[in-house]
Amino acid sequence: MAERSSTICIERGLLSRAGLVAAEKLPSRNCAIISDDIVDALYGEKLESSLKNAGFSVVRMAFAHGESSKNIETYARVINFLAENRLTRKDAVIALGGGVVGDLAGFAAATYLRGVNLVQVPTSLLACVDSSVGGKTAIDITAGKNLCGAFYQPDLVLIDPDMLATLPDDIFTDGMAEVIKYAAISDISILDLCRNARENADGIIRRCIEIKKDVVAQDERDTSIRQILNFGHTYGHAVEAVSDFAITHGKAVAIGMCIMARACAKRGFCSAECADELISAIEAQGLPTASPFAPEALFETMLSDKKRVPDGLNLVLMTGRGACEIRKTPIATAKEMLEEGCRL
Ligand code: GLY
Repeated sequence: MAERSSTICIERGLLSRAGLVAAEKLPSRNCAIISDDIVDALYGEKLESSLKNAGFSVVRMAFAHGESSKNIETYARVINFLAENRLTRKDAVIALGGGVVGDLAGFAAATYLRGVNLVQVPTSLLACVDSSVGGKTAIDITAGKNLCGAFYQPDLVLIDPDMLATLPDDIFTDGMAEVIKYAAISDISILDLCRNARENADGIIRRCIEIKKDVVAQDERDTSIRQILNFGHTYGHAVEAVSDFAITHGKAVAIGMCIMARACAKRGFCSAECADELISAIEAQGLPTASPFAPEALFETMLSDKKRVPDGLNLVLMTGRGACEIRKTPIATAKEMLEEGCRL
């Protein structure tokens, strides 16, 4: 079981009531909102007013948006900001934004004074269904993405699906790759909701979080079953890295899932119909289904995957509709499967 458990609230219009909900859960009335420049301009003031109306003293900081900010320098600025404003252990960091803000502000909350209260207010679909829940926090270092971080469960996750209205289609679609991942690993009926994803956002988020909470409750530290959430990620991370991050995470994961689905069908782990259903759902979202890079180029990068074990890789195989299985796979087999999955 996770060491700390999170209260998760999903409700349209929740942003304006965020202060009241936070006041019920948090032990003090001091907090720092950490955001990026784009999200802060859209929602920073509204969140601050809601908190102030509920009796909070609020300080607010925004850094430049984008993955390039998820580094040691920004992290240092954030923890110095918390210290300058004399936040104590009883006070809270409120991460308002997408995956980058959640990861970085979450890591600051995990480490400042050895841990303060943390509230996640995700504003991207990807952050709503994945990164705001489960307690993974991190920053990037020169050696790679997310290599410095902590498992640190938020006390509270506040999800207002109305905030997704301002999300550009391209970024919304990126999040849909993670949504389809939940369909593939656990509940194929999610694909029905995906046909009208913006309208069904509440239901999609609710179901994906149910699945994620259940998995994280069994394996917070990512040593066993949690790795199922990595379906499509081993090959996807390789695509992302070889593109020098020009291909976004969601698009890369979409490609990774298609590679894996094709390879699993070819090896008889699942039927061809099962693989085709997933690939069609990915295509229907306007996400890519094929790697622009040759398997040889992807293979080297794949070897640095965090899920690598001494004599192989833990691959998440597709075994049926809404069913996957983690299997320790020798490197040579993972390479063959990559080649098979890249062949259309
Ligand atoms: N994003 C995968 C996980 O939280 O484990």
